[in-house]
Parts: sequence; C-alpha cells; structure tokens
Amino acid sequence: METKIVKIDEKKLDINELLNLSKIIKEGGLVGIPTETVYGLAANGLDGNAVSKIFRAKNRPMDNPLILHISQMDQIYSLTKDVNKEDIEKLNHLWPGPLTVVLNKSEKIPFEVSCGLDTVAIRMPSKELTRKFIELCGTPLAAPSANLSTKPSPTTAYEVYEDMHGKIDAIIDGGKSSIGLESTVLDLTSKPATILRPGYYTKEMLEEYWPGVDYDLALKNENQIPKSPGQKYKHYAPKAEVIVYIGKSEHFTKKVNDLLQDKDKRIGVMAFEEDGNFEKADFLIDMGSKEDLTKMGNILFSSLRDMDHEKMDLIIVHGVEENSYGLSIMNRLKKSASGRVYYLED
Ligand code: TXA
Ligand code: MG
Repeated sequence: METKIVKIDEKKLDINELLNLSKIIKEGGLVGIPTETVYGLAANGLDGNAVSKIFRAKNRPMDNPLILHISQMDQIYSLTKDVNKEDIEKLNHLWPGPLTVVLNKSEKIPFEVSCGLDTVAIRMPSKELTRKFIELCGTPLAAPSANLSTKPSPTTAYEVYEDMHGKIDAIIDGGKSSIGLESTVLDLTSKPATILRPGYYTKEMLEEYWPGVDYDLALKNENQIPKSPGQKYKHYAPKAEVIVYIGKSEHFTKKVNDLLQDKDKRIGVMAFEEDGNFEKADFLIDMGSKEDLTKMGNILFSSLRDMDHEKMDLIIVHGVEENSYGLSIMNRLKKSASGRVYYLED
C-alpha cells in the first residue's frame, strides 16, 4: 500500500481535502493525524475491525487500550456511563487540550478500544485541524501515538512515515506537534482522581479542579502494577543506548567530558544551554534552558530519533528533577534509558 502524506495548512483548512481523507476512515482504513501532543494513528473508534488494524500496524500488545478522540463535548454522553455534571464542567475548562480522562464505558465501545476494561479513555485535542477532521469523519477516532510499538512517539508527519509507510493509507501533515509529549491520562473513576500517565497538565495544575488528585502508585513505585496498561511496556527506545545523568551543570559537563575522552563509539549529547562545551561529542542537541522545560519536552522524542539518523551508539541526556513538568519528561526518559538514570553528587 502507498502511504500518501497530505499537507494541510491550518490557517486555511482545505475542507475538500479533509473530506477526501475522512473517506478512508469511513471505509475502515487508517490515517496518521497531527495533534498538539504527538501524532496519532487514527481509525473509526466505533468499528472494532478498523481499530484492530491499529494494533497490527503498530505491533501493539492487545491488552493496551486506546484513547477515543472527540471534537465536541456532547459526544462524551453516548460513549460513557455515569459521568457527573461537575466533571463535565471541569472538562469544559480544560478541553480542548492535552488531557485524557478515563470514565466508565457505555455499551457502544468496541472490545478492541477498551481491551476488555470497564472503562474508556477520552480526549478532545486542541489542534483545530484535528477536531475538524474528527467532525468530518462523523465518529470518534481511536488513536494511539503513531509510532511502531517501543519507538519514540512521532511529532512530525515524516516521523510517522518512517514507522508506518506501506502500512497505512495516509498521513495528514499539520506541522510539528507543539507540545511533544503525550497527554496526561487522568482516571476519574477513582476517588480521588488518579493520574495514570503524567503529561503537560501537571498534578499542580489539576489539583485546582480535582482536589486530592494524586499519581497512580505505580508511577512512584516500580513494584506496583500500573492501572494504565501502556505504562508497563518497553517504550520510547531509539536504536542507540540512552544514559541519563541528573545533577548540576558543572557536574554534568565534567562527567560527560570524561566519558568523551577515550571513546570507541559515537556519542551524542543532549544538554542545557547552562551546561559547558562538549567538543568531542559526535552530535550535540541544545535542550534550551533548565529553567523552562518546554523546549526539552517539545524536542525530546524527535531528538532521540535524530540521534538514530546520525548513527549514534550512545546518547547521554541531562535529566531533570522529578517534579511538576520534569516528572512528565522523566517518565518518558527513564523508559527510553531502560532505567539507566544516575544522580551526580557533589
Ligand atoms: O497525547 C496523546 O494521548 C496521544 C495523542 C495521539 O492523542 N495518544 C496516545 O495514545 O498517547 P497511546 O495509545 O500511545 O497511549 C494511551 C495510554 C496508554 O498508556 C493506555 O494504556 C492508556 O492511555 N489507556 C487507554 N485507555 C485506558 C483505560 N480505559 N484505562 C486506563 N488507561 C488507559
Ligand atoms: Mg504511545
């Protein structure tokens, strides 16, 4: 199958082109879609057969449920059971946006979406182009991140093409994802509400709406079984080995330069602008300032892919403390590094 990439200008949406692409979804096919977080691999979320194609294209474990993407709040009622008015009001403040909520599912949800759970995950993306596309499809779209399972999530149409060409019908190119990390997954069926996957909306931001909200224990303690099935799998792994060091700029700079001294492999470095020079690095990526992690979150996944394009054997990343947005970033980075995260002490 030929996979076509269709560029859509967000400033003047080509509705005819989007309508054409929506036919693929209506006929049970797969389309790569841009969102503000990462690119998704979309199918008609109410058609179990179409949804099962997503698992095959990604090579995704069959017990890892998918998020349904909606374009309007009222779609939530037919997809869920017992959703309460207060939660809808809160979602009216936070949606559209990078937040996914887990609610009790209605009988409309195909087995393939919820993978047999009693719940369903729902999100209304903030990217206008994406909402328009969902609207034209006339159905909620089931969409995981559009990477092959275990690979870093894609934040450009080209990265989707890299993993999915020949496997899906089309990719909508809506430019680079502005956030770069997947949505926060919030379980509203538990009291208090629980963060199953950290993301752009941090615990501090969500506390204002759901007082007492806390992280799923498995996010803090590796011996607990995560309530979000996706959290237990190998993830975000580039071909190169990844090592993360957390610590002051001076310590990171010294440690990395020591490692770069007598090296027998190609080493890439992802550092902050406050860090020193790394003259012997084979590839260097600037993650912006330590004081504002927006850029680090935005480029993390694409940088891991770039390091593979540049044929690095080892990627050394300057990690951050696990609080606020730093916790969401480290949640991904620890998985990319298969746990090889070290603290540099004084
Ligand atoms: O930002 C995002 O959320 C992106 C874009 C495309 O919207 N999507 C995304 O989907 O990251 P995916 O499939 O890569 O991650 C969905 C996560 C998984 O960890 C999955 O286990 C969890 O949400 N999940 C889905 N349904 C769930 C449910 N009913 N209960 C608990 N966790 C659920
Ligand atoms: Mg994913």
